[in-house]
Amino acid sequence: MLQTDFESKYTRIYEFVKSKLQSAPGCHDFDHTLRVLRNAEKIAAEIPEADLQIVRLAALLHDIARPEEMSVKGKLCHAQEGARICAFELKKYDFPQAMIEHICACIQSHRFRGNGPSPQSIEAEIIYDADKLDSIGAVGVGRAFHFAGRENARVHNSSEEALNSEAYSREDSAYREYLVKLRHVPDKMLTVSGKRHAAERARFMHEFFEQLESEIRV
Ligand SMILES: [Fe+2]
Ligand SMILES: [Fe+2]
Repeated sequence: MLQTDFESKYTRIYEFVKSKLQSAPGCHDFDHTLRVLRNAEKIAAEIPEADLQIVRLAALLHDIARPEEMSVKGKLCHAQEGARICAFELKKYDFPQAMIEHICACIQSHRFRGNGPSPQSIEAEIIYDADKLDSIGAVGVGRAFHFAGRENARVHNSSEEALNSEAYSREDSAYREYLVKLRHVPDKMLTVSGKRHAAERARFMHEFFEQLESEIRV
């Protein structure tokens, strides 16, 4: 698609996504989408064969159905629903059908967790990695504390307390999130560039929780 034609459509879709996600909770609001978009552009810059128009639209739309998923307390998968909304929205803008299907497939596979569709194209791998990157590093630590605060969890607990507790409990601290999930994220990255960025962010997270531990265990 011609770049000028693409940019005018992209601007209108950007405004649609912004208005839909602006009031979503902090972990998955429009700021998260913008960070994922930046991560995706950064990864794609190292992969010449990646289609940047597909990457940008898929990143922008990847969490479009978060509000729907939250309104039914997770009974609906935002990746599946997001692909459906995306197909509906992009058809209004006259994008080629193959491009729409490609973008929808990226959205459908962005939260791949062993079941469900896995990323099948380089653009889908970029979106998956870009989204994962936002869960680690300094941003990841911030999001983990934000989530723990919303659930009224403790600021810090020991690894024993954290690992012997349930999700959404008082012990579901940022440290528990790190131990159970975040420290394993770098092993799940798919692109070479994503793996490198993830390793840098993982180093910082490790140091952060070591420092937290050292301040508390005197
Ligand atoms: Fe998502
Ligand atoms: Fe996301």
